[in-house]
Amino acid sequence: MKVDSENIFAVAEYCLHSGDVESILASTQHARVLFENGRLDFVDKTAPRSVDETQFPERPLLVSPRQMPQRSLNTELGVQAFFHAVAHIEFVAIYLAWDLLYRFRGLPLQFYQDWVSVAIEEAEHFTMIREHLVAMGVDYGDYPAHKSLWTVAVDTADDLLMRLAFVPRYLEARGLDVTPPMIKKFNHLGDATSAAILQRILDDEVRHVELGSYWFKYVCRERGLNFEESYLQFIKERFSGPAKGGVLNKELRYKAGFSSVELAGLEHWADD
Ligand SMILES: [Fe+2]
Ligand SMILES: [Fe+2]
Repeated sequence: MKVDSENIFAVAEYCLHSGDVESILASTQHARVLFENGRLDFVDKTAPRSVDETQFPERPLLVSPRQMPQRSLNTELGVQAFFHAVAHIEFVAIYLAWDLLYRFRGLPLQFYQDWVSVAIEEAEHFTMIREHLVAMGVDYGDYPAHKSLWTVAVDTADDLLMRLAFVPRYLEARGLDVTPPMIKKFNHLGDATSAAILQRILDDEVRHVELGSYWFKYVCRERGLNFEESYLQFIKERFSGPAKGGVLNKELRYKAGFSSVELAGLEHWADD
């Protein structure tokens, strides 16, 4: 099944409410073909449905992060569980990109073009990881997954600025810190395939975060806010630390539009 419309908001609405992995992938691919051929219709005709109506597939079972088993990457099961967790992150990332453009209306055309391109890339990431899982004898849905990513989307459904601060500029930005050490680890373990997949994703994610920075600054300007102060204030009110282990990948974060003031604020999280 796939959506029967050439309108971006209709495609987004379908993807957010079908609850079926294959239909979401087919519909995102449909949007890609339309977009690449200049046939995707960006006319806004209908209001978005409530975020609470969003449908996720029956599998994987969603549990709290504390219920997720911790496994070592030195075992086959550990590598499977790791990539299942990555597949889930990418799957939710498809929803996050669609929801961002679906929920927030009245922005410049470029906003919708940017985020549909992200939805398309997240679907590519998910498909790549899923194929990697299948090659290991596992499919998406075979393990439980955690539900915390989507919680942030629900909590920021009424505020674009918070959504941009928390999703691309906090959650996705953490990926820029934690992925390079994982790539190193897989190379060290002699698993070049896993390392190459993560590298490809990392290259794309820099641009996703960069788009988050661009639009965060755009909305700050519109509202007459200082973007650095606003960013640090918002995320320190909501989260307990900048990244697992607290080590920031400054090089990638600069590329992704973070300023030195923001990075210093993240590094000295607890100081003020
Ligand atoms: Fe991704
Ligand atoms: Fe992303």
